[in-house]
Amino acid sequence: MSHSIAVVGTGYVGLTTGACLSSIGHRVTCVDIDVTKVSSLLKGQIPIYEDGLADLVADGLACGQLDFTTDLVAACESAEFVFLCLPTPAGADGMADLSAIHEVVLQLRGHLRAGSVIVNKSTVPVNSARMVAELVNDPAVSVVSNPEFLREGSAVRDFLNPDRIVVGSDDPVAGERVASLYLGIRCPIVVTDPVSAESIKYFANAFLATKISFVNEAARFCDAAGANVLEVMRGLSFDPRIGGSFLNPGPGWGGSCFPKDTQALLTLAGRIESPLPIVEQAVSSNRQHIDQVVRLITDTTREVGAQKLCILGLTFKAGTDDVRDSPAMQIIEQLEGITPELTCYDPLARTSIPTFATRVGNLNEALDAADVVAILTEWSEFSAIQPDLLLDRMRGRVVIDGRYLLDPTRFIPYGIEIRSIGRQVPK
Ligand code: UGA
Repeated sequence: MSHSIAVVGTGYVGLTTGACLSSIGHRVTCVDIDVTKVSSLLKGQIPIYEDGLADLVADGLACGQLDFTTDLVAACESAEFVFLCLPTPAGADGMADLSAIHEVVLQLRGHLRAGSVIVNKSTVPVNSARMVAELVNDPAVSVVSNPEFLREGSAVRDFLNPDRIVVGSDDPVAGERVASLYLGIRCPIVVTDPVSAESIKYFANAFLATKISFVNEAARFCDAAGANVLEVMRGLSFDPRIGGSFLNPGPGWGGSCFPKDTQALLTLAGRIESPLPIVEQAVSSNRQHIDQVVRLITDTTREVGAQKLCILGLTFKAGTDDVRDSPAMQIIEQLEGITPELTCYDPLARTSIPTFATRVGNLNEALDAADVVAILTEWSEFSAIQPDLLLDRMRGRVVIDGRYLLDPTRFIPYGIEIRSIGRQVPK
């Protein structure tokens, strides 16, 4: 059954939510305060890179199921469901800053129709659904927590093929109504109270961040012990209690979610005096790992007397143009004053880089005359690098493979050394 839905906020969560809900048959109006953004969206131009999203937006606009506006009240007053997909950045105190949610809810107060449901998708501290309910102060309007589990780069796929849908509400009927919006999407639905739903979101991200910190710690251990971290993780992966995904070592975790959400969770845990020492250690271990990558780069450039370093990859992972809290950007910042000439390349990153570095527009130019290359994002363009290309372009013969993309044994015959933390390479 088709429902009328307003989605407030057109970031990657809001836009994906709006476009996907319209694609499964609902009538959706997305709201944003940014006039320029809304007029671009109305023309089908989307401001971020997200696989498959532009097509869904175009389809939704073409069949009239999807609309965009800056008029918050007009979009929400007739809607049966109002999804809040607003930014919740880290505030000065480390907790999620809820001012955008406060402001929107206050503007909507008194304008929502009886029986409508506010659905909170933004990542918010526990108890926020109840806080929103108090702010709305209308017994005819329910509030439901429905956290998102979308990964940047595969957000559309994740929305339409989720591992689970979580719905938390003090009002079971409103919870059921929100769950029913996803009819046709086959996955387990976890119906619970709002505080548990909000906690699920934080603990899912904290668990995943901890898992990667653990893998990267294993990489550092393998380095010292003489083991191969990829073999170790392969050996772990067949145990269903461990699970085979999210076991890839890398240059550290980043992005718009893990750093912010682990910080918010730790701050909240401090406030309610229920410490989370494992999560604390996962955050600190991630910092240590990024430092270790910096050390590997600087030790290598010193060892070979490099005059030029090339960094490949700026985004926090492949498949996105987002550099928020990207390990690559943090590594570059730490190289200030200690790097030789530095050239960077990324196919998609939406960012400027510090003035001591130069960003170039293609891979060949980045590699030109480089003494050392460091790969920090797992773009397929970098996995496809062939020994010939490095021989043609580079001056030196060492590649630091922070993403374990290149098979070192293929490069040895060409005199090229591929170095990674925790991967032993036969000389
Ligand atoms: C993450 C979660 O995976 C989503 O489920 C969640 O909905 C989202 O945060 C959010 O809270 O909105 P995302 O930030 O897009 O999604 O990125 P991930 O794919 O989870 O990767 C996070 C970081 O971990 C990246 O820096 C990535 O390179 C790193 N990573 C991931 C590894 O180093 N190894 C892995 O095996 C997996």
